[in-house]
Amino acid sequence: MTDQTTTPRSFSASLPLKGKIAIPGDKSISHRSLMLSALAVGESRVTGLLEGHDVLATAAAMRAMGATIERREDAEWRIHGVGVGGLLQPQEALDMGNSGTSTRLLMGLVASHPITATFVGDASLSGRPMGRVIDPLSEMGADISASPGGRLPLMVRGLAPAIPLSYRLPVASAQVKSAVLLAGLNTPGITEVIEPVPTRDHSERMLKGFGADLSVELGADGTRHIRIVGEAELKPQTIVVPGDPSSAAFFIVAALLVPGSDIVIANVGLNPTRAGLVEILQQMGGDIELLEPREVGGEPVADLRVRHSALRGIDVDPAVAPSMIDEFPILFVAAALAEGRTTTSGLDELRVKESDRIAVMATGLAAIGARARESEDGLVIDGTGGDPLPGGATIAGHLDHRICMSFAIAGLVSKAPVTIDDIAPVATSFPNFEALLKGLQQ
Ligand code: S3P
Repeated sequence: MTDQTTTPRSFSASLPLKGKIAIPGDKSISHRSLMLSALAVGESRVTGLLEGHDVLATAAAMRAMGATIERREDAEWRIHGVGVGGLLQPQEALDMGNSGTSTRLLMGLVASHPITATFVGDASLSGRPMGRVIDPLSEMGADISASPGGRLPLMVRGLAPAIPLSYRLPVASAQVKSAVLLAGLNTPGITEVIEPVPTRDHSERMLKGFGADLSVELGADGTRHIRIVGEAELKPQTIVVPGDPSSAAFFIVAALLVPGSDIVIANVGLNPTRAGLVEILQQMGGDIELLEPREVGGEPVADLRVRHSALRGIDVDPAVAPSMIDEFPILFVAAALAEGRTTTSGLDELRVKESDRIAVMATGLAAIGARARESEDGLVIDGTGGDPLPGGATIAGHLDHRICMSFAIAGLVSKAPVTIDDIAPVATSFPNFEALLKGLQQ
């Protein structure tokens, strides 16, 4: 994870994309599957787990804190948990690599256990703000010493028993919500998170699935009050992880943009707190059909048939942002090929992702000849109306998997190749991205 070598990769104008693919498991659900299984008493089984670097960092950390985690040859994962309250003192620093989700959720777990853990990560992760979890976890009694600016490396000294908290989220963040709820698991009494704007609800669904006493009450103003009763006992589960809509996003947009394309993406998770991109692309005129809607592992899922479409620019309602927070980089690429103007706003959170996704996308799009203007909290993009972009530039990916994949897709609809300076970060969330793309191009 501290490898200094880089692997540039070029992407150029593509033949129509045809065929059917299955995308890897959902990253958010995969992290939570490992964490909750590692806290259950007994053996959990997980299939469809995303085997990207981020999730493997979570697996390594849970092992370092006492869980037994094995991958069988048939790709089923078996986890023997230590029980809530049973996490052991890790002997070395926990290397979180590039993964904000691992870091913030595990800080929550450590906060209410009588252990001390040091968290380290790569250059991207070490630049990201952790104050948003340090604040509530400190209120619960954890002693946290961070690098300047509330950043990694940092050390969490947990407190057991911790102090239950009622916490109103100051930012719309599923990671912060989950960190507090996970800390609440081993805290006596009731820990409450008040969520003014709904974010992905995988933690709530899965905690309930594992047998925790968790309730969600809607306030008159739409605010969600999520309460978890602490000192829970989690029961082992058998989990089937649905495909990641945030990974499907790159192929949805690729098929919409590359003329003549017609693909099916199987088993895409469509939890309403995650499905904003599909809705927005449909509003833009995208031909996306939901086939066989069903439930997998307690989550709504469908196969998506996506055909090349003439897209129209729209004003994206900022209220949908939390349900597609990871999809804006690839939406910006779609907008760059649409007819007319697309405006986005209310996206301040994009500035603290694996990179500053507003600035990095604005710079990269300009470099390949798209018309994009950066505002404080979004981008305004004037599309080509379906004409290919000029392309012909090298893009700095800034250790951000979604930036790399977004510009890879832009390369498929550019006259001259688009080169990504280092393709390696893609493996954090989507190890077989390039292989699946090649398969659709034949
Ligand atoms: C995630 C929450 C989101 C998202 C990230 C995964 C999660 O982060 O961007 O990729 O699994 O809870 P924020 O909570 O920072 O919005």
